[in-house]
Amino acid sequence: PWRKKENQNFYRIWISEVMLQQTQVKTAIPYYNKFLKKWPDLDSFYKATLDDILLEWQGMGYYQRAKNLYLAKEFIKKNKFIIDPVNLKKIPGIGDYISCAIPAILEDQSCTVLDGNIKRIIKRYFDLNESDKSFKTNVEEIAHKLTPKKNNRDYCQSLMDLANIVCKAKVPECEICPVSQDCRSKGNHSNKRVKFFHKFKKRKIGVAFLLEYKDEWLIEHTEKRLLQGLYAFPMTDLIEEESKGLGEKYFTDLILKWKKKHYIKTNHQMIGFVKHSFSHFNLKLLTVNIKLNEKIKFKNLHWMKVKNFKKKPVSTLDKKINRIIFMGIWKRTIYR
Ligand code: ADE
Repeated sequence: PWRKKENQNFYRIWISEVMLQQTQVKTAIPYYNKFLKKWPDLDSFYKATLDDILLEWQGMGYYQRAKNLYLAKEFIKKNKFIIDPVNLKKIPGIGDYISCAIPAILEDQSCTVLDGNIKRIIKRYFDLNESDKSFKTNVEEIAHKLTPKKNNRDYCQSLMDLANIVCKAKVPECEICPVSQDCRSKGNHSNKRVKFFHKFKKRKIGVAFLLEYKDEWLIEHTEKRLLQGLYAFPMTDLIEEESKGLGEKYFTDLILKWKKKHYIKTNHQMIGFVKHSFSHFNLKLLTVNIKLNEKIKFKNLHWMKVKNFKKKPVSTLDKKINRIIFMGIWKRTIYR
């Protein structure tokens, strides 16, 4: 949809590029369409709150991008901007890649558009060795030399499509590749890094807490790390699972330590496990219920009516936790 004529303006290309930075095309499409329906232009987007944006972003991950969209539109509201790489980079969340992609796509400017996907094509086409010291500068030099003076708009978007459809990270389809004739690593792509990365993706464990008092839950409105700005269940730090055998004891230790830190003496009840895959590790999370008999105050945690929490933006992980909480309640009712 971002290639459609009516979507060729700064705002719409910007939103698409931010979404596409860490999300696959097929995943981004429905989010993009919904986003533009809600905020068709910059003027309407100016009125969005951070919570509004996070709600639309829910499920796409990398929530810092949504937060940066918020900061960026606040910045744009107050400052004039010019569409060129140097000026665009002053906007929060716009880095080397997007600051070049927007002028190239929108105005056919001849700037070098280079993201992880295009790097992969260059690496393979010229059979470059990623462990060479000069790898990064070589790729950048080649990318720069190849950038056409005219039609860069089509050139860079063609490379993006080639990377998405043909020269894919895991399984490149060299048989249908339009440039396979001259590709120096033809059919012999080293995917070692990708394979290694997936095989040895770290495993972590942790515990999430459902702290209840009547129809209210204690909710963390966190600014930190992965779940920037979202509403979340309180959680222990995550610990790395070094071997497959990391079992019950580790979960119990985490729970007891967390309860001690928060001065909670009330008994807890296990609800169940959820599994979630982040880009750098796989997580196994135990959810535990504590029914409090008073509304204790906790630093960084807020009491919130369950029905209000349901309207708040949460991560996919917290959605999974929410789901098993309700399954748990359902089970408890059945077996009572
Ligand atoms: N990845 C990043 N930007 C893209 C675009 N405009 N089209 C397709 N894939 C992309």
